[in-house]
Amino acid sequence: MIPDEIKTDRSTNPQGDPGTKTVFIKSYGCQMNVYDSQRMADTLAPAGYVETSSPDNADLVILNTCHIREKAAEKVYSEIGRLRVARDERRRAGGDMQIAVAGCVAQAEGEEILRRAPAVDLVVGPQTYHRLPDLIAKARSAKPVDTEFPIEDKFAVLPAPRREKTLARGPSAFVTVQEGCDKFCTFCVVPYTRGAETSRPVASIVAEVERLAGAGVREISLLGQNVNAYHGEGPDGRAWTLGELVHRLARIDPITRLRYTTSHPRDMDDSLIEAHRDLPALMPFLHLPVQSGSDRILDVMNRKHTSAEYLRLIEKIRHARPDMAFSSDFIVGFPGESDADFEATLRLIEEVSYVSAYSFKYSPRPGTPGAGMADQIDEEVKAERLARLQSLTEGQQKAFNHASIGRTMDVLFDRKGKHPGQIAGRSPYLQAVQVEADESLIGTVAPVEITTTGAWSLHGIVSGTTLREKVA
Ligand code: SAH
Ligand code: SF4
Ligand code: F3S
Repeated sequence: MIPDEIKTDRSTNPQGDPGTKTVFIKSYGCQMNVYDSQRMADTLAPAGYVETSSPDNADLVILNTCHIREKAAEKVYSEIGRLRVARDERRRAGGDMQIAVAGCVAQAEGEEILRRAPAVDLVVGPQTYHRLPDLIAKARSAKPVDTEFPIEDKFAVLPAPRREKTLARGPSAFVTVQEGCDKFCTFCVVPYTRGAETSRPVASIVAEVERLAGAGVREISLLGQNVNAYHGEGPDGRAWTLGELVHRLARIDPITRLRYTTSHPRDMDDSLIEAHRDLPALMPFLHLPVQSGSDRILDVMNRKHTSAEYLRLIEKIRHARPDMAFSSDFIVGFPGESDADFEATLRLIEEVSYVSAYSFKYSPRPGTPGAGMADQIDEEVKAERLARLQSLTEGQQKAFNHASIGRTMDVLFDRKGKHPGQIAGRSPYLQAVQVEADESLIGTVAPVEITTTGAWSLHGIVSGTTLREKVA
């Protein structure tokens, strides 16, 4: 799931207090980058850095980048161009600004970034950002590039944020539990940018979730490029499955909601499916990317399952949890994709009926097998297919939202609404829900009767008491 551009928490120091150093962090790409950006801010806090909401007054700007598609990767260079202008202005006024490139472009391009964008002061990959304070100090005399896959575990050394910081980030939090990927789908850069699959030990995750819960967090989304391939060391010395991990986390009070993303269909084992049956805290919504409905394309993509196997899996999960809803990622125009292959994808979408979907035109990525394949598809054909696919998935999403009218759903309120007097939150299916209610409900879960739907959000009325008391 790829939100386009997300700025991290901008809670503190809006005026840019001259006594403190300020950092502006911008995240591109997936939720894991959002989590990493927060942890970068945590790493820099003891060194005196406070987050600011704009690059203009920042002493340090970090671009936490994404390499998944060409467009995402290229965006970084135009952003650096804009920052260089801002930095030059600051220098003329006697100040300065350091520019750091982090994330997956940093990992993939390393030194090349310094050649292409000399304004950049330092480059740091996703596995070494715990070394940021050191790298920033070094960057005053040289331009360090740190894209190692180090032996030390960054999670073991990253400092925890202050309680107020956690509260400011809201009642829903991400926690990375697994990183990297060994699947090597032929279109994908992730195995190269994030390295081999590794899992955090159970104890380290439990400690982080307990800390978040103690600060008022009510919903945890467990993150991993292949989160359901989780196999972290348990307290009994055995490798635990994700199913076992969610059972353990569901016991932490007062966490009321658990989610995990992104899953690979091949790693949906029985312990995880049973967790959906047995744990009310595990939300009945699963992002389970299939990419294509054509067995031929799935094979060339190296997805290692057929469309029938995927559909059987969906059935099995629905059997365990009948109110389960699904979302997926799709790629159109993978090399060799014929009209018939594309039609097979549309048929699969009709069969499953998704409540949301993310779809992309295939983007050939340097170093991946797909980029060298014959039969690359014309951009025009890709655009046509994407429009058809999106009109189908958007129709399904609207139908699902419309069918929500009259239902009462638990909503976790996490922010103020669009208009004064409104607050907003998320349903179990991640639908945005707006209600007229007091701001004191933010940070709690309450039942909401859905009354109307807008273009992308639902409206309703709070129809009962909150399920959990808010932690102040
Ligand atoms: N680990 C997840 C996906 C991570 S990447 C999985 O296995 O499903 C997120 C999404 O970006 C993918 O699901 C895919 O739909 C899309 N994507 C990845 N590489 C791409 C490429 N080269 N071109 C277009 N879309 C791509
Ligand atoms: Fe990429 Fe495939 Fe790994 Fe997902 S499973 S991160 S798509 S290589
Ligand atoms: Fe992008 Fe890296 Fe995430 S390539 S999608 S930021 S793992």
